[in-house]
Amino acid sequence: MSEQCVIITDENSGNTLELPVISGTEGEPTLSIKALPSTLGYFTYDPGFTATASCTSKITYIDGGKGILRYRGYPIEQLAEKSTFLEVAYLLLSGELPTSSELADFQDDITHHTMVHEKLNTFISGFHYDAHPMAMMAGVVGSLSAFYHDKMDMSDPEHRMLAAKRMIAKMPTIAAACYRHHMGWPAAYPKNSLNYTESFLDMMFSVPTEKYEVSTVAARVFDLLFILHADHEQNASTSTVRLVGSTGANPYASVAAGISALWGPAHGGANEAVLTMLHEIGDVSRVGKYIEKAKDKDDPFRLMGFGHRVYKNYDPRASIIRKAAYEVLEELGTTDPLMDLAMELERIALEDEYFITKKLYPNVDFYSGIIYKALGIPVSMFTVMFAIARTVGWVSQWLEQEETPTPIGRPRQVYAGATERDYVPLESR
Ligand code: ACO
Repeated sequence: MSEQCVIITDENSGNTLELPVISGTEGEPTLSIKALPSTLGYFTYDPGFTATASCTSKITYIDGGKGILRYRGYPIEQLAEKSTFLEVAYLLLSGELPTSSELADFQDDITHHTMVHEKLNTFISGFHYDAHPMAMMAGVVGSLSAFYHDKMDMSDPEHRMLAAKRMIAKMPTIAAACYRHHMGWPAAYPKNSLNYTESFLDMMFSVPTEKYEVSTVAARVFDLLFILHADHEQNASTSTVRLVGSTGANPYASVAAGISALWGPAHGGANEAVLTMLHEIGDVSRVGKYIEKAKDKDDPFRLMGFGHRVYKNYDPRASIIRKAAYEVLEELGTTDPLMDLAMELERIALEDEYFITKKLYPNVDFYSGIIYKALGIPVSMFTVMFAIARTVGWVSQWLEQEETPTPIGRPRQVYAGATERDYVPLESR
């Protein structure tokens, strides 16, 4: 018998089973149900995985009730205030904060993998100019396996780490190339003299005809947003990366699948949906009407950027982004009526019985779009910004899974279709 267990009894057969309790370093105790089918003959039913842990992980911890988020034990608030995106990337990948020389080596490594194969630009040019950038990202990142897969030995930790670094390094280059294709601008190349976010902004906005100075405000805020979006344990896109990775598929294919999962408006696509929603509401005077729509069960409208599967309290990332949105608008000396609208929406929702009882609070995506908009990022690129940052989480989780013997992810089902019947020839139907 394990140290702690829960005994369940099947009232039909009278058989009992001891289910061992798995306790992590923090978080809810979890029952191991692996022996259930072979012992009692039952599977478990949990659509949406609301009560199911799919893996053991040492990377990110969330306490949704208390609004806590930590990467490798470090509170997100401290990392947001004191760290940088690449330092956080190192932390997520390796488990520890780097020393100065480790950080310098890591930054150097990432910087020297930012270029993409020139043929990739040919691939991008095949897309129609108005293709959604997330569709392009999924296709282009998937295609990286055609460029880098052959020489990769997945059983070699160095090869795996190289693939992880490549993806972190190349994602901004690919994102900017997709944007430039849409704009009809010539290709831009990464600049090794600039840091990660500066180089990304340079590739996004520089044109050959003019000198472009990267805004320090923009580079700093992007770094912050990337830190906040870097990982979030077993969310839908990360679980997708792990599931695809569990088949032995290469990491580029796994991350491409993660990008597709992120695109959905219930997940990372919410940042784009928030801006669309704020435009649709249009004016503070119409907020009440939209709150009522969100509460109406017969109306499919949902308040985008509100609610979260895990957080039943204020999303700690949302508080940081809200403050940053204020600061950015102030530093840029601009105002945005959408900010007033968002704040009014938040104020009314947080006082409303419906949102209070369902514990619906602003999530990470509620204010991020206002910052992206202020910094000149087009709405269709918002989720791409999320994908650049989340790549660090995806590859860290993929590496962790590769280091642990993991069976292929293969859920079961409750079959509710027709029982056995005989084929009816076409002429008799
Ligand atoms: N507006 C109005 N009602 C909502 C909202 C919302 N944004 N979110 C949840 N609810 C209601 C649901 O209708 C449901 O009501 P019911 O119990 O009467 O049926 C209840 O709150 C619980 O909602 P579920 O959808 O069951 O919760 P779930 O955990 O499955 O979904 C999700 C979480 C998908 C994030 C949901 O809150 C949502 O759709 N939010 C809007 C989209 C969004 O902002 N997504 C970004 C999430 S953060 C991220 O992925 C980066």
